[in-house]
Amino acid sequence: MDSIIGIKSFTAVAVNSASKAGEWIKSRIGRFAEPDLKYSMHDLVTEVDKGSERLIRNLIATHFPQHSFLGEEGVEPGPEASAKALEAVEDAEYLWIVDPIDGTTNFVHGFPFFSVSIALAHKGQVIVGVVYDPSKDELFVAERGKGAYVHGKPMNVSKEQSLRQSLVATGFPADHQMALPLNLRQIQAVAPQVRNIRTAGSAALHMAYVAAGRLSGFWEIGLNSWDLAAGSLLVEEAGGKVTDLNGEPYHLGVRNVAASNGAVHGELLKALQVE
Ligand code: IPD
Ligand code: CA
Ligand code: CA
Ligand code: CA
Repeated sequence: MDSIIGIKSFTAVAVNSASKAGEWIKSRIGRFAEPDLKYSMHDLVTEVDKGSERLIRNLIATHFPQHSFLGEEGVEPGPEASAKALEAVEDAEYLWIVDPIDGTTNFVHGFPFFSVSIALAHKGQVIVGVVYDPSKDELFVAERGKGAYVHGKPMNVSKEQSLRQSLVATGFPADHQMALPLNLRQIQAVAPQVRNIRTAGSAALHMAYVAAGRLSGFWEIGLNSWDLAAGSLLVEEAGGKVTDLNGEPYHLGVRNVAASNGAVHGELLKALQVE
């Protein structure tokens, strides 16, 4: 790990920012003003989301003032605004992509499954991914070409060879009109083919769990770059696969994602082919 956490290296700054933000978020559990609604009644934001993003943005800017920054709370809610915001910066030489709390609903309810997700992309390709779970003090780190680690220990995806043996996860979309009905049909199609399905409420942590071999697969529709960028590198560097639901390789614009240990990827994509 020494080689990847050098002083002021990109990874060191990502790790330091995620840890500091995570500690602060933890200190605010149960101590925040009434959440605001964003896109719908299923989509919350608190002052802690905004404060965490500010903290991370300032820390990164101290080290890399010339880099671009895309954080969830700096973007208007809704898919069009997110797509536009990404488009404006995705070709930047260096772009930090940040979800200051992934799993805000869990944070609000005191359900200890939320994370801080920080990725650095170089000309559109993720080169550093860090996901931090402050509740368990688990730090997931990946650097392109150098593997993925949980607290310094190398991570590998699970060995399951078929969906039958697989524990998989998904997330319920906040968009209850368009996306939720499709997600429910997907769950109905996948459930009989897998050991079981979890939906724990943080896409970034679900991705980290695929990388750590705790889940063999994860899919969700309607996500954004800040939910997925860091997790995508964790999964790839742990030996897994990340694509859209048509099997096209992950890139920053992917909103409908499938991630797996690789071995069950084809089966998962096939199971998800519902109308
Ligand atoms: C949400 C979480 C959740 C997923 C939602 C995301 P947020 O992110 O990742 O697990 O199901 O689709 O929007 O809003 O808590 O950062
Ligand atoms: Ca949110
Ligand atoms: Ca998120
Ligand atoms: Ca968030």
